Amino acid sequence: MNLQVVTDSSHEKTILEGCIREKARPDTALQILEAGCGNKWQLSLKGLQYTLAGIDLDEDALQLRQARFRDLDEVIVGDLRTVSLPRAQYDVIYTAYVLEHVSNVPLVLANFNRWLKPGGLMIIKVPDRDSVYGFIARNTPHWLHVYYYRFIKGNKNAGKPGYLPYPTVYDKALARKRMLTYCEQEGLTIKAMLGKNNYLRKRSVRDRIIRIFVRLVNLFSFGKLAWHYNDLIYIIEKSSSRNDETQ
Ligand SMILES: C[S@@+](CC[C@H](N)C(=O)[O-])C[C@H]1O[C@@H](n2cnc3c(N)ncnc32)[C@H](O)[C@@H]1O
Repeated sequence: MNLQVVTDSSHEKTILEGCIREKARPDTALQILEAGCGNKWQLSLKGLQYTLAGIDLDEDALQLRQARFRDLDEVIVGDLRTVSLPRAQYDVIYTAYVLEHVSNVPLVLANFNRWLKPGGLMIIKVPDRDSVYGFIARNTPHWLHVYYYRFIKGNKNAGKPGYLPYPTVYDKALARKRMLTYCEQEGLTIKAMLGKNNYLRKRSVRDRIIRIFVRLVNLFSFGKLAWHYNDLIYIIEKSSSRNDETQ
């Protein structure tokens, strides 16, 4: 499976929104689940008939989300590993920057697969644990992440209830090879795999320094840790002939 590197957020959104729109059917609203929805929805599906359900562990984030945007048709407080949702309920399950915070990722993937309708779409966006970014994130303490968000990224609410960053786990099941094997075993088709880079396009002094640093870590890892992207986005389709009773 080839990786398409995307450096532009609007390009990424166009691709993802296009994939979701392809699932639209006349006279029926698409059922979308945003898993680990946090306090903001990143996509825009204007003109599409859909209902959006959001699930998250963090009640504060859900309250912030509804107070600011009121864009969730259904609000579910729950853990993706243990919550009970109906089988074959959703046309699309979208999850961004969530699975790196969860232990026992295979349990979540099995739930997604069960909650998805035959022919449905799973969009999973996650920092690659085997990129320079992922390697540093999983080998540094949480307090450092809070400082980075607060003092380098300038997010003064960082670490407060309902706000980023959340502690990371980086379950081994998220390794790219394992994700590909999982999909193969479950009969899931990976329609596309995008590598998203959040720092290559920028030209400020700070970003140039980050770029040099990332390149150096890549060299010291003998090229094992990817530097030219930091996030992976899997666009996965469930077979339309999948017999749900067997799952
Ligand atoms: C980094 S935030 C991402 C939020 C949002 N998806 C976004 O892209 O801005 C991670 C979110 O995942 C949620 N989360 C982490 N583990 C979870 C779990 N086991 N079940 C449900 N939500 C979880 C957190 O509460 C948090 O809102």
